[in-house]
Amino acid sequence: MQYNDTMTDATDRKWFHEARFGMFLHWGLYALSGRGEWDMYQSRTPLREYDGLAAQFNPEKFDAREWARIAAGAGMRYMVFTARHHDGFCLYDSQVSDFTSVKCSPQRRDYVAEYVTACREQGLKVGLYYSLMDWRFPGYFNYTSDPESAAAMRRQCHEQVRELLTHYGKIDLLWYDGLWLNHDAETDRSGYCATFWRAQELEAMARALQPGLLINNRSGVPADFSTPEGRVLPPEEKDRAWEACMTMGAAWGYVADPDPMLLTVPQLVKNLFDCAKDAGNYLLNGAVKPDGSIAGDAQRALRAIGAWLKVNGKAIYDSERLPLPRTDLIAGWTQAGGRCYGLLFALPACGELVLPLMAAKPKSVRLLGSGTKLKISHASNGRVVVSGFPKRVPVKPFPVLELEFGGEPRIIDESTNRAAWLDGTLPAPA
Ligand code: GLC
Repeated sequence: MQYNDTMTDATDRKWFHEARFGMFLHWGLYALSGRGEWDMYQSRTPLREYDGLAAQFNPEKFDAREWARIAAGAGMRYMVFTARHHDGFCLYDSQVSDFTSVKCSPQRRDYVAEYVTACREQGLKVGLYYSLMDWRFPGYFNYTSDPESAAAMRRQCHEQVRELLTHYGKIDLLWYDGLWLNHDAETDRSGYCATFWRAQELEAMARALQPGLLINNRSGVPADFSTPEGRVLPPEEKDRAWEACMTMGAAWGYVADPDPMLLTVPQLVKNLFDCAKDAGNYLLNGAVKPDGSIAGDAQRALRAIGAWLKVNGKAIYDSERLPLPRTDLIAGWTQAGGRCYGLLFALPACGELVLPLMAAKPKSVRLLGSGTKLKISHASNGRVVVSGFPKRVPVKPFPVLELEFGGEPRIIDESTNRAAWLDGTLPAPA
């Protein structure tokens, strides 16, 4: 990879690999309209009108400590907060913009400062989202015909990144977004954006200001990790760090409480597991309401995930890929600390679970969170049969099986005769 030497080194990236689960928070003036974070543009709100929203931004329930407690309680290990989104409104004390929460809103607060402190108190790694582009500049749209405005937007971007990485102590992760110009994805694909934003210069500055900083791939250089959006999609390069960013409900920004599109706890836990089984992270977005709070039903879902992780976290945190087959009952596998973890959709109705044809001898088995002793045996063909399950799943929604094998957890190679299993004569495991 071209920019490998600008990547943060492996030791600094370790926490990200271990963490697996983070909280994304979208919040800004757009919360007031309940039409999502693209509202200013989608409703074509003139600047003067949009600016008026700042005076109404008076979040009475804002409590960054509560956000951090909710994230930690959900088993998340880091947070990413929208310091400034595409609408240009800074939730911090920027010196290069007049459109900030400190200058224009009744409470005159630096929300980024409070957020950073709260993350640290909860032992969460600190991430900041920053949109390179800003709709307030005509040069964002007319980047060829209005180069002066476009250049002013770029200057603001470099300066604001400098501010965010200078005034808030240690920042662990920088989450860029909005690198395209005039909503034209071609400007991104063609590499034009990287040149426009002077992405390498930006990168060098960020690394110099915050050694050990992790940077996502949305400034025009690949940097440290990839960011598939809205779906679990591991990058093609196998060793590349990645993080799927996804919403819990209808949109990134606040839309409604209760959110009619809120995903169920099984869907959320399954997404988290699907990221972990391909060695990736799940950055789950919670929309923040105009009053600064996270909606109650989203909080309930997050607490349920936290309860599940308390028991089953060994299958998720710091886990690696484990290429064992799935079945209709086994959603997939991970491995960590020399043990194998299989996520089951349910306990087997017949009381027996049949695992893939293992070449290695199984040593032990247990259901995480359960005191019931399971039985494990070897059947013909190298099938591993687990029985003796309790009546109930220890923690909803999914049970997790923990297995240890005598040797490397490999499956029996059936490639020379795919029909051999039919008469039960595949070689027994060594
Ligand atoms: C997109 C959207 C933006 C959102 C982001 C989150 O780039 O433009 O509104 O913040 O995705 O990944």
